[in-house]
Amino acid sequence: MTSTPIDLGRPVAGDVVELILDDHRRFETLLRQLRDASSDRDAVRRALAALHVAHAEAEERFVYPTLRDDHAIGDHEAQHGEHEHAEGNQALLDVLELTSVAGEEFDEAVEELSRLINHHLTEEELTILNPARSSVPAPALAELGAVFATERNALIDGDCGRLENVRAIVARAEEQGLLDEAEED
Ligand SMILES: [Fe+2]
Ligand SMILES: [Fe+2]
Repeated sequence: MTSTPIDLGRPVAGDVVELILDDHRRFETLLRQLRDASSDRDAVRRALAALHVAHAEAEERFVYPTLRDDHAIGDHEAQHGEHEHAEGNQALLDVLELTSVAGEEFDEAVEELSRLINHHLTEEELTILNPARSSVPAPALAELGAVFATERNALIDGDCGRLENVRAIVARAEEQGLLDEAEED
């Protein structure tokens, strides 16, 4: 089971675009809670870690490849999305590694995480979800929704946001060169 007591939802079916947008709203809510000094920030950062890792991995494993095969998006959009997920995971790790959930260092790490995630949500909605809506038939979006939700839920159940796992994911992204390119945003 996941180590977060915060409810991350457990969708089992739906249009993949809607399921992704539901998670994007969850990211925005969790980031706002993380900025709020009166929140249980440790619980919030763990919930955010589980959601970020699960959501991004389910997109990379199933959503991006399917949309690419359907010619809804190109290699560039998929690769750029993966690059931004890696940047998000690295900023997330910086937040998770801090001993104290208050003070200047924490604020700076949260500001960077907010900036990267908000940027990625915006870009993904504009350049990946829009073409998915307009060029993939509804039954295929529903089929992909079920696959996305199943993977996302299984990863959350496997406690994918735990510190050692986020460290391993960031180390792998570094090895793969996903973090060193000075790619334009
Ligand atoms: Fe997303
Ligand atoms: Fe994404």
